[in-house]
Amino acid sequence: MARHLITSALPYINGIKHLGNMVGSMLPADVYSRYLRQRGHDVLYICATDEHGTPAELAAKEAGLSVAAFCAQAHDAQKAVYDGFALAFDYFGRSSSQQNVEITQHFARRLNENGFIEERAIRQVYSPTDGRFLPDRYVEGTCPHCGYDKARGDQCENCTRVLDPTDLINPRSAISGSTDLEVRETKHLFLLQSKLQHEVEEWVARHEAEWPQLASSIARKWLTEGLHDRAITRDLDWGVPVPADTWPELAAEGKVFYVWFDAPIEYIGATKEWADEDPSTRDWKSWWYEADKGENPVRYTEFMAKDNVPFHTVMFPATELGVREPWKKVDYVKAFNWLTYYGGKFSTSQKRGVFTDQALEILPADYWRYFLIANAPESDDSSFTWEHFTATVNKDLADTLGNFVNRVLSFSRKRFGDDVPEGGTPGEAEAKLGEEIARLLAEYETQMEALQFRKAAAALRALWSAGNSYLEEKAPWLEIKTDKDGAALTLRTAMNLIHLYSVVSEPFIPATSAAMRQAFSLADDTATWVTEAEAKALTAVPAGTPFTVPPVLFAKLTDEDLETYKERFGGTAE
Ligand code: MF3
Ligand code: ZN
Repeated sequence: MARHLITSALPYINGIKHLGNMVGSMLPADVYSRYLRQRGHDVLYICATDEHGTPAELAAKEAGLSVAAFCAQAHDAQKAVYDGFALAFDYFGRSSSQQNVEITQHFARRLNENGFIEERAIRQVYSPTDGRFLPDRYVEGTCPHCGYDKARGDQCENCTRVLDPTDLINPRSAISGSTDLEVRETKHLFLLQSKLQHEVEEWVARHEAEWPQLASSIARKWLTEGLHDRAITRDLDWGVPVPADTWPELAAEGKVFYVWFDAPIEYIGATKEWADEDPSTRDWKSWWYEADKGENPVRYTEFMAKDNVPFHTVMFPATELGVREPWKKVDYVKAFNWLTYYGGKFSTSQKRGVFTDQALEILPADYWRYFLIANAPESDDSSFTWEHFTATVNKDLADTLGNFVNRVLSFSRKRFGDDVPEGGTPGEAEAKLGEEIARLLAEYETQMEALQFRKAAAALRALWSAGNSYLEEKAPWLEIKTDKDGAALTLRTAMNLIHLYSVVSEPFIPATSAAMRQAFSLADDTATWVTEAEAKALTAVPAGTPFTVPPVLFAKLTDEDLETYKERFGGTAE
């Protein structure tokens, strides 16, 4: 049987992520991992914080902390939110780990031995006041094209023209504001991606047919434009050091690798972090090295938003190919469009939209998990609005699922006591229901296996609805007046649906699923999935099983709630 390696794009260390980040990478990866684990697969779900680069340095400075201390703190803060969202990572690592340093340096040495790295001298802006070279985007000045006075050295935000820092009129440091800038010559390592263009093309051609169109079209676009050699080192204090054994001079100057060089390697690094916690039972290398071979080949699925696709379909594969060692490459790239906030951008810098920590202050994770996945921006961008969110929660979660569960269990307890009632023989209505449930379950499985999350959510919702239709049709509250056995059968069948829901809804709403399952004191409840026969029969929970009525599963959101949310977060795009 195949083993499933799953990664979601590594969130940048600075700042708590917003709901758009969550739905475009970690959450669907978690839903998929949970589903595969339930189906009995061997799954390894790996993620980590992406800790290097200038933004981390600047955020640390602003917080008055060393970069190391800032990152340690920020990592824990992000991890706490992900725990709150019930993301069941096998490991959530850190790209600044020693493991990643070692593997990144190994990759660089191999690329060098294979002729894919070259040292080149470039001219770069140096700020004596800041005591450092300035990355292009940290040089600000007036745009020579449009006169905008806050243009960045890489691009003018106003006229969108791509710039070189030396194009700017009256350049200044974005860090200190100093205008005392000079251009100095400095040496950097370049990854000769142009030499790998052909191989990457061949590799993409062998895989893209299977990828969603969003991923393959972006990969194609990059390949058509051509792979350029690019600098993979920076003059920063914080990062994976250039190894001194190979580049003594650059190492002595304190050069580190560019964050986008070491970040994807951290997928491997974090796997080693995971294994190093318990080396006697965990084998990191078998997941990554020669992992296509043997009895349990690895199938590797990556989750990311569309801006990350070029790095994962072209650049990182180029690196892996150039290393000339059999490192595992991605099999399936699940890419997402943007979740917008009222049609506008979620913005971390402008603090617009809903952040993941705030979301959990308002409502438990399952509300968000369901809503986000049911509206995942798969084939197009999708828009978050509070109106849509509250309506979805009320209709799907509170009415269709939550109310069904509470209605069935409380009514049965009132009329038949604390055990699943006995009596009645399944008839036509039950047979019809069983067929319908089996059909919808198969549809749900198909969509999950195809990583079609919106469609999977629709199938799940249809499963919940089928219970409501059955209940309306049988109307046990009337039935009980004339046919007590019949009412017992209806309620027992409905309770079996609740149990089935608890199993199959688990990837979406794990906490609620646990609450539904715990309602029944089944002697031996080890089932991780539902077979077709069980779906048809709906008798896994037999008469006589003790049960309790759980507290309301999903609270209905009121108009007042809606107004409060809109007031707090802003109910329009701008
Ligand atoms: N930190 C990047 C982002 O948020 C993603 C890095 S993914 C990895 O866009 F491949 F580099 F790990
Ligand atoms: Zn301009």
